Parts: sequence; C-alpha cells; structure tokens
Amino acid sequence: MTLLPTNGLFLTFEGIDGSGKSTQCRLLAETLREQGHEVVLTREPGGSNGAEEIRRLVLEGDPDRWSAETELLLFTAARRDHLERTIEPALAAGKVVICDRFADSTRMYQGLSRGNLRAQVDKLHKMMIGREPDLTILIDMDPEIGLSRAKGRQTAEERFEDFGLELQLKMRAGFLALAQEFSPRFRVIDGTQSLDAVAADVLTQARAALS
Ligand code: ADP
Ligand code: TYD
Repeated sequence: MTLLPTNGLFLTFEGIDGSGKSTQCRLLAETLREQGHEVVLTREPGGSNGAEEIRRLVLEGDPDRWSAETELLLFTAARRDHLERTIEPALAAGKVVICDRFADSTRMYQGLSRGNLRAQVDKLHKMMIGREPDLTILIDMDPEIGLSRAKGRQTAEERFEDFGLELQLKMRAGFLALAQEFSPRFRVIDGTQSLDAVAADVLTQARAALS
C-alpha cells in the first residue's frame, strides 16, 4: 500500500494488560470530540470486520494454541486489514485516529515474549504495514496491579493474561525500552495515578501533538 500524506493525527496507546489503555482511549476520544475534533476510536487486534474475526482466533483458547511465529502472521494480517479499511481512510480525511494498541504491541508480545523474534517482526512491519503513529502514549504500570485489574474484567479473551505475571514483567521492561528506542514519538505516563490524573496527563500530550 502506498502511504499517502495525511492531515490527520495517528495516536496510539500501549502498555501491559490492565494498565488503563481502553479507559483512557475512550476518555480522550470523548474530550477531543467535545472540542470539535473528528475522532475515530479503534483497537487492535480488531478495528475492521476481518480483523475482529482474527481477534477471536488469537485472544481466545489455550495459551499454547499458536506459536509466536504463527501469531505474528495473524496479528500482521489483522493489522493490514485494519490499516487499509479503517486507519488510512480516516487519516486521509484529516481525522484523529485513537488506537488501543498497534505495532509496538507486536514488537513486544510476538517479538519478545517467547524467544527473540524482533528481526522478523521488523521485516514484516516494513513490508506489510509501514505506518508509525505520530504519538504513542505508554501507560506504565506495576504488573501485579495491572494483572489484578485485568483479571477483574472476567472475559473470554484471557489467552495472554494466562501467560501470567512473568510475561507482564518482561513486557513492562520491554515497553520502557521501546519508549527509549522510539523516544521522539513516545510519552510515558504513570498509570498508577487516579483515573482523572492519568486522563489529564494524556490530554496534555494529545493537545501538544495536535498543535
Ligand atoms: P487495559 O485496556 O489497559 O487492559 P482497562 O482500561 O480495561 O485497561 O482497565 C482495566 C481495569 O482497571 C478496568 O476495570 C478499569 O475500570 C480499571 N482502571 C483503569 N484505570 C484506572 C485507574 N487509574 N485507577 C483505578 N482503576 C483503573
Ligand atoms: P487487549 O484487548 O488490548 O488487552 P488488554 O485490554 O487486556 O490490554 O489485547 C489483548 C492481548 O493481545 C494483549 O494481551 C496483548 C496481545 N497483543 C499481541 O500479542 N500482539 C499484538 O500485536 C497486539 C495488538 C495485541
């Protein structure tokens, strides 16, 4: 896909499970809409019909249902569909796209969780996706708190949460390292604060990116 120049703003949220991403995406979308912006609120895996179908394949069932390599292909296929059908058209129309997780999650979960697949992740991203966010908010969170918040939700989508605390610890450290690697677009926010305090920090960063 040729990436066209866009007037929109592509904003992603990253962090471990239960860090507050979905809550903050929703709050930011509401606030920006109230301020007159056209906002598309979306998520990964998912965000288009085809990608939502793939979501069920990757998030439900036994932790060892897929190898890391197969998962990488499934998440990339879902992202490609999401990009073609939802993200790129919205950006081309000048909208603000707020996405709950994106390619940084693949760099972490498939790239780092079971062996080191980062080189394959990067190659596939370059070949099939090629889009990076304008701004990425990393909600940093103590993994034990995150896991207990995530487990409190009681959904069928627990395949990754079932990998347990060890994975969450590795992912937290990995995300902080990724924020250094891509420091121009990353902002790290303390997710252990109150909901309102996190939302205020998020809004400050989003406003700066919009101006
Ligand atoms: P994520 O999308 O990162 O997994 P969620 O936004 O779904 O996280 O939040 C996980 C749980 O924690 C939800 O039940 C949510 O209401 C709660 N939660 C989110 N942010 C906070 C916060 N700052 N303080 C306390 N609880 C929170
Ligand atoms: P999500 O629904 O955002 O879960 P949560 O709200 O608990 O953070 O994502 C579900 C899981 O999918 C999450 O554990 C991370 C995983 N994931 C990957 O492994 N690779 C990816 O590329 C993406 C987008 C998500």
